[in-house]
Parts: sequence; C-alpha cells; structure tokens
Amino acid sequence: MAIRSYKGITPAIDASVYVDESAVLVGEIRIGKDSSVWPLVAARGDVNYIRIGERTNIQDGSVLHLTRASKSNPEGYPLIIGDEVTVGHKVMLHGCQLGNRILVGMGAIVMDNAIIEDNVIIGGGSLVPPKKRLESGYLYVGSPVKQARPLTEQELDFLAISADNYVQLKDEYLAEN
Ligand SMILES: CC(C)(COP(=O)(O)OP(=O)(O)OC[C@H]1O[C@@H](n2cnc3c(N)ncnc32)[C@H](O)[C@@H]1OP(=O)(O)O)[C@@H](O)C(=O)NCCC(=O)NCCS
Repeated sequence: MAIRSYKGITPAIDASVYVDESAVLVGEIRIGKDSSVWPLVAARGDVNYIRIGERTNIQDGSVLHLTRASKSNPEGYPLIIGDEVTVGHKVMLHGCQLGNRILVGMGAIVMDNAIIEDNVIIGGGSLVPPKKRLESGYLYVGSPVKQARPLTEQELDFLAISADNYVQLKDEYLAEN
C-alpha cells in the first residue's frame, strides 16, 4: 500500500477503512470510518487537502486532486467528499465539494469549485464544469451535465444501499488480509 507523507503530513485514515494495496494516497488526506479506496486510485493531497467522510467508497482507477491557493483564490480548491458517497470506476474529482449520499457514475469528471448537494446521481461519463451547483434530489447527465429529472424514491433509497454494499464488501476484503 502506498500511503506517503508529503511535507511532513501523512494521510489520516480511520482504522476501519479499507485501502487497496495498489492505491496511492499522498499528503493531507483524511478518511472517515468505514470508507473504502479501491485498486489504482490516485489521491494527491499536496497543494491543498482532501477530506473523505464515512461509509464512502472511491472505486477503481479514480483520480482525486486539488487546486492550490493563489492571490485571486486564497483558499484554493480542496476536495471535500461527504458520507455515503459512491464514486464509480475511473472518476475524476478535482477541487470540488460533494455532500452526502451521492452516486458519481463511472468515468464522470467533476471540476474545480463544483458543488454537488446531498442526494444526487451523476450519470456515467458526465462532465460537471467548474462552479456548477447540482441541486439536491435530481439526476444529472451529459457533458456538460444537465438536470435530467427528479430522483425516484427507489433511487434515493439506492444511494444509501450502494454505500452499505461497499461497507460490507470492504469488511470482506479486510477479513481476507
Ligand atoms: C444515470 C443513470 C442512473 C440513469 O439511468 P436510467 O434510469 O436508465 O435513466 P433515464 O432512463 O431516466 O434517462 C434519462 C435521460 O438521460 C439519458 N441518460 C441516462 N444515462 C445517461 C448517461 N450516463 N449519460 C448521458 N445520458 C444519459 C437517457 O438516455 C435519457 O435521455 P432521454 O430522456 O433523452 O431519453 C445511469 O444511466 C447511469 O449512468 N448510472 C451510473 C452507474 C454507475 O456508474 N455506477 C457506479 C459504478 S458501480
């Protein structure tokens, strides 16, 4: 497993988190209880910080990075991910903020300062442009994303179920090691 310090800061990862041994986590990263990080994820907390909440899964091949602070942008753009978020395979999350119970479909790209409110699904292959705000309770698809329709009750329920499935799966992986 490649968990590396950068400028004296080491990722702070709760003991209940599963991190695949091929994932690379560098620098200022905090990961909460029962989350999981799957093969070939690259997360670089070097020019700003990454926060990942509880019961969140970051699936295979996803890339997580940030934007540094500057004169015109004194905080820069950290990456903040809430609880019970499912980040699908090969997603790119860059300097954005995700609330709770969100599904980011496979191959989606979310750019700087985009804000994804709670209970949102982003379709596979979608692009969320800089500064875009996705409203709670809706499906968004396309490149750039457009609001497609309200989520059904079943889809809203599925957001927590998906998170739960990944908590179970990471427990099985932890038991293997
Ligand atoms: C977004 C998603 C949930 C929508 O599924 P759905 O119920 O079949 O969607 P709908 O039938 O309501 O589609 C609404 C519209 O969006 C379009 N659409 C659906 N998914 C799309 C996508 N990923 N990109 C672009 N358009 C999409 C549909 O064609 C439809 O367009 P229309 O109204 O012009 O016909 C599904 O397509 C998806 O992308 N799931 C992601 C799964 C994933 O990546 N999981 C993580 C890994 S486990």
